[in-house]
Amino acid sequence: MPGPALDQLIPAGRTAALAPAPDEPDLVALLRRPRARLVRANMVASVDGAAHGPDDRSGSLGSPADARVFAVLRALADVVLVGAGTVRAEGYRELPVAAGLRDVRRGLGLAPGIVLAVVTRSGRVPEEVLTGPADVLVVTGDGGVREATATAGADRVLHVPSGEHDGPDLGGAVDALVARGLPHVLAEGGPRLLGDLLGAGLVDELCLTTSPVVVGGSAPRVVADGAWLVPGPAARLAHLLHAPDGTLLACWDLGGHPSAGRTAG
Ligand SMILES: NC(=O)c1ccc[n+]([C@@H]2O[C@H](COP(=O)([O-])OP(=O)(O)OC[C@H]3O[C@@H](n4cnc5c(N)ncnc54)[C@H](OP(=O)(O)O)[C@@H]3O)[C@@H](O)[C@H]2O)c1
Repeated sequence: MPGPALDQLIPAGRTAALAPAPDEPDLVALLRRPRARLVRANMVASVDGAAHGPDDRSGSLGSPADARVFAVLRALADVVLVGAGTVRAEGYRELPVAAGLRDVRRGLGLAPGIVLAVVTRSGRVPEEVLTGPADVLVVTGDGGVREATATAGADRVLHVPSGEHDGPDLGGAVDALVARGLPHVLAEGGPRLLGDLLGAGLVDELCLTTSPVVVGGSAPRVVADGAWLVPGPAARLAHLLHAPDGTLLACWDLGGHPSAGRTAG
């Protein structure tokens, strides 16, 4: 596995850096959560808080250190949950697992492949992702079920009506994923989906990479368009890693969710 060694700043007290290795034992030990269900978000931001660079993609904020952690977070997930806007912007097609991490998945009893669950209100998911190699589910509500069924096929549509709006009930969607044997959900954004997941009190943990770049511009934060969370979930820093290029990789525990379901604005 390429990528730099990472210093663990918090919790303090480690004497050795987390060295890269094909099966990434240090990162797996740090990031694995043996829990019955988990919704973990993983996002990257610039120092000035942008969720994408001038090319409208988050990849331009990435770094080798971010790629290292990103790969391990994916390898520990049953399903990647992502908004249709991000699928369109980033060109999602497949979720490959690095060779060394395939054995890790096997050892943990995870399926070889990671399922891709695309959240959409409209039901419109790019053809390329539906015909690509990934095992794809389309998560939608009443507003998108007809379009999604026509393009993806009924067996790939997770119809979770909210009863309040024409989008999906995100809590119901997570329940449905768990019921399908996909209890570890990795939410990869984008900012609007993350805002809605936070608003619904569904995010247990936020892994946030800060890339050592300042981009200016008018990109959203990693959370966009959501209602104010009043009060927001208390965030506890579970760990903080540092790469030689200045990248900071934090993991925030949002457990407790005092704001679950309560929003204002
Ligand atoms: N910094 C990062 O870590 C990161 C991560 C991911 C993406 N990004 C960047 O973020 C930008 C895209 O931002 P975005 O906020 O538009 O992304 P997004 O949340 O993925 O996309 C918004 C679209 O996703 C669907 N969606 C989101 N929330 C939904 C909900 N609660 N219910 C139903 N559908 C929902 C809708 O699709 P329909 O239009 O089909 O209804 C909506 O139009 C891109 O530039 C991408 O590169 C950054």
